[in-house]
Amino acid sequence: MGQALTVLGIESSCDDTAVAVVSHIPGHLARIHSSVVVGQGSLHSAYGGVVPEIAARAHAELLDHCTERALSETECLLRDVDAVAVTAGPGLIGGLLAGVSFAKGLCAAAGKPLLGINHLAGHALTARMTDGIGFPYLALLASGGHCQFQAVLGADEFLRLGGTLDDAPGEAFDKSARLLGLPQPGGPSIEATAVGGDPDRFDFPRPLSGRKGCNMSFSGLKTAMLLASEGLPRRNGRPQKRDIADICAGFQAAIRDVIVEKSARALEEFESRIGRKPEALAAAGGVIANGPIRKGLAALCDELQITFLAPEPRYCTDNGAMIAWAGIERFHLGLFDGFELPARPRWPLDQASPPLSGHGKRGAKS
Ligand code: KG4
Ligand code: ZN
Repeated sequence: MGQALTVLGIESSCDDTAVAVVSHIPGHLARIHSSVVVGQGSLHSAYGGVVPEIAARAHAELLDHCTERALSETECLLRDVDAVAVTAGPGLIGGLLAGVSFAKGLCAAAGKPLLGINHLAGHALTARMTDGIGFPYLALLASGGHCQFQAVLGADEFLRLGGTLDDAPGEAFDKSARLLGLPQPGGPSIEATAVGGDPDRFDFPRPLSGRKGCNMSFSGLKTAMLLASEGLPRRNGRPQKRDIADICAGFQAAIRDVIVEKSARALEEFESRIGRKPEALAAAGGVIANGPIRKGLAALCDELQITFLAPEPRYCTDNGAMIAWAGIERFHLGLFDGFELPARPRWPLDQASPPLSGHGKRGAKS
């Protein structure tokens, strides 16, 4: 592959088993040769959420199959890649262990260097893979487990400006969908159901609106959804389609408004703390696959004359390409890992800032 640096990326921190091959020639945009993602939705649907033990076993079973596919779609062999990058945290410990052990096995067998990647860094650096953006920029990460604003100062240098004080927005989407009897993951099903709904009929709160800073809160929206859905008129025990569409539209608009308002505040905070405007607002994570949220953020950036970047939806949700790319960044910095690389269920991106929430025995969640 010439002077290109080619990295195999492995992701198994939640319920998607994903492997990709990405290459990069300095001065050019990255090339994603393959990106295989096998979701486990059907394995968990009966339980209403991800069951960690089932996820771990499924990852262990799927990883070699996904890797074979990613390599064969690239028309290369393991010996042709320069390194193997793997998500080492944060996430579900069983899945992380499956991925990290598998990656170590590949590196030992093929004599390749190992790169342990923080999953959030994978999301935060995606805009550099897809659009080649320079530092510093503001990353908004909004997914099923996280929501935070990070000033990205370098590939291994992050400053958290704010984040959620309780739930992640994806979690609010997923739990609300469950309440309404809509399929998981909840984000895409609420987005589809909201089409044509009236966002103003139900009065959803905008938590922390008007407050200083760019911290967010989404747990109250779940409660509001519970109350609103309980109050719906029912026929044969079921709410009407029209009502469900309106409630989904109202809920989605509330999440959009919170994210857009707090992004405006995060952009201000970026400027005052970093001393300059960011190169862009780069959004990533599963929730950024949402059309109205993307539109709201694009309109804000348009107004403020800031470049808005959001990867196409398949690179917003969990994927191996973002892990391979973060690996390429760490390779350039010489940040390799040894076989003692641990799997870390909790691993904040910015380790210097105090935790916002969930500071458990094993350290900060986010
Ligand atoms: O980044 P991701 O794939 O996994 C985590 O790291 O959490 O994000 C998954 C989350 C789920 O909560 C899912 O409901 C949400 O992203 N999501 C969406 C959409 N697509 C996925 N939320 C809103 N609208 C969507 N279209
Ligand atoms: Zn993610």
